[in-house]
Amino acid sequence: SGEWCPSKKGESVLGGKGAGTGRHNIEKILIANRGEIACRVMRTAKKMGVKSVAVYSEADRNSMHVAMADEAFCIGPAPSQQSYLAMEKIIQVARVSAAQAVHPGYGFLSENTEFAELCKQEGIIFIGPPSSAIRDMGIKSTSKAIMSAAGVPVVEGYHGEDQSDECLKDHAKRIGYPVMIKAVRGGGGKGMRIAHSEKEFLDQLESARREAKKSFNDDAMLIEKFVDNPRHVEVQVFGDQHGNAVHLFERDCSVQRRHQKIIEEAPGPGINSEVRKRLGEAAVKAAKAVNYVGAGTVEFIMDSRHNFYFMEMNTRLQVEHPVTEMITGTDLVEWQLRVAAGEKLPLMQEEILLRGHAFEARIYAEDPNNNFMPGAGPLLHLSTPPPDSFTRIETGVRQGDEVSVHYDPMIAKLVVWAEDRQAALRKLRYSLHRYNIVGLSTNIDFLLSLSGHPQFEAGNVHTNFIPQHHDELFPTKKATPPEVMCQAALGLILKEKMQTDAFRDQSDDKFSPFASSTGRRINICYTRKLSLLDGENVVDIAVSYNQGGSYNMQIQDKTFLISGEIVNEDDTVYLRSSVNGTVCKSRLVILDNTIYLFFPEGSAQVGLPVPKYLSAVSSVGMQSGAVAPMTGTVEKVFVKAGDKVQIGDPLMVMIAMKMEHTIRAPKAGVIKKVNFQEGAQANRHAPLVEFVDEEAESK
Ligand SMILES: *[C@@H]1O[C@H](CO)[C@@H](O)[C@H](O)[C@H]1NC(C)=O
Repeated sequence: SGEWCPSKKGESVLGGKGAGTGRHNIEKILIANRGEIACRVMRTAKKMGVKSVAVYSEADRNSMHVAMADEAFCIGPAPSQQSYLAMEKIIQVARVSAAQAVHPGYGFLSENTEFAELCKQEGIIFIGPPSSAIRDMGIKSTSKAIMSAAGVPVVEGYHGEDQSDECLKDHAKRIGYPVMIKAVRGGGGKGMRIAHSEKEFLDQLESARREAKKSFNDDAMLIEKFVDNPRHVEVQVFGDQHGNAVHLFERDCSVQRRHQKIIEEAPGPGINSEVRKRLGEAAVKAAKAVNYVGAGTVEFIMDSRHNFYFMEMNTRLQVEHPVTEMITGTDLVEWQLRVAAGEKLPLMQEEILLRGHAFEARIYAEDPNNNFMPGAGPLLHLSTPPPDSFTRIETGVRQGDEVSVHYDPMIAKLVVWAEDRQAALRKLRYSLHRYNIVGLSTNIDFLLSLSGHPQFEAGNVHTNFIPQHHDELFPTKKATPPEVMCQAALGLILKEKMQTDAFRDQSDDKFSPFASSTGRRINICYTRKLSLLDGENVVDIAVSYNQGGSYNMQIQDKTFLISGEIVNEDDTVYLRSSVNGTVCKSRLVILDNTIYLFFPEGSAQVGLPVPKYLSAVSSVGMQSGAVAPMTGTVEKVFVKAGDKVQIGDPLMVMIAMKMEHTIRAPKAGVIKKVNFQEGAQANRHAPLVEFVDEEAESK
């Protein structure tokens, strides 16, 4: 059936032939963004022969998107307000560089009406919809009213002033049971009840009012259709300046944490072609209702019987657009550029065909075991599965780069495609295992347990998936098996041997029995005691060297016969080992007193004991507790030396990854020293505040 590749249909006016009326020659675009999406847009620009101009903050000077661009301009300091959100500066760069169009990516200025207007005034093409569409879709009540008028199903509700029992009950009946009764000022589930039938309505209403009164001192209620275990299903739409609009099928983005998507797929699992058709038609209706131009996404909430209701429209290219590209064989950034240039849509609805299944997993610098706390830091080691036509790695960072505290902590999007869902899921897991990162915590292992969950495999996804399957998704950490500890020991010994061998080439008298397989003293039986760390636990391994290159390793009462070698393939170091006859190949990285082993079925970290003087230093900060939970900027300092604080008193506010964290006193005491000023950057685990120690105090 030939090659499945981006559409070549349609005649381009880009970077070439003259422009007719309403058509523009786009030869150079400015990308008002950073990271993976800036790189993604540039790749298509390059393919089309369009020059790209990057803008960057001081923190991004050496970043990948700057390196990829044809021209790059620094637009200010790291905080986005002073760089990526500084409209005037960006417009100025567009003027200076003579870029005809601006691609806003997602986030930042992509849904900013003012910026779209500003571009227009300057005669610069904003690659996105008209500012009126951005404005209308940005206001929830307006967008719902427009969609409702256009015949798009919306979640029915009552948000009125009249709070009488009769009025609320009448609306519940109109909306249809089950309904949700919600406190207008509600939050965190307080003042919220479900009424399954008219019979229980008044009781539930009273109960919700009582709770709301207690919690918010306000018992005003709203009524909404209740959607049980909802799914988040969205449809990709595209419009052109000639009044055409098409859809490119749906994506399911139900699996979320902290209200952010982590695995997306297309098409939606279990959605039949009849529902798919209705979804697509509703989305096109929505796009036409606002004269939509460019790439947009219509989000629906879907119940267990596949009824769906409009939630909102995102007037930009979405993070997860690649899964749509994979199942339709399109390049949506190319479409955006063509449409912006005034061309007609490259394909008509009947020409857009769905093939196969695609997944996207978002790889984040974060700690799933600590409520998905965002992280930052250097990517000391980064190896990825090799990209091919069906495996895409969308990223803006390379090994050695840093995930900055100033921006989104996403490291990469791993996108895979296969003929069907099962095959695509297998490919996803295979590729995730080969995505190996050292230097900061990532969600890769969590993505593996998520994508391997039987209910995920069955396609039973909904927005409550992670809380519902919490226990299985976060298994309590077990001890590292002794076989793996042996492999870590072997990796360490072989690495040492390589280094000693290299050293011995220069000075021939150095000799270690563990560092050599040849030598004079080979008949002497040596036993070396290695102490490795499995989490907090010290594991002692007695290693003895056998003739012929193998080792005996004893852990407690178990003995293993182990042999192996270190091999280099494609710049990556692997450890091949045989433990009592079981052979295994794993990626080996030794960095920062830690041995990392990446196996096909998971990864292991084994620590080398840290010298005493070092651990003493770090435990001071840890015990006092007033340490930076993550790398970030100190926003506010509430205390100074000499202040007396009670346990739980706020000491500082830190900002990292756009989130605020209040650092509280871990104990009562007197502040001895404040280590960071407002505006300073603190690394993860840095002691922020020191306490006068109690003994000194009592003297
Ligand atoms: C591994 O093999 C050795 C030698 O054959 C044997 O003595 C030992 O018990 C085996 N260890 C385990 C844990 O099975």
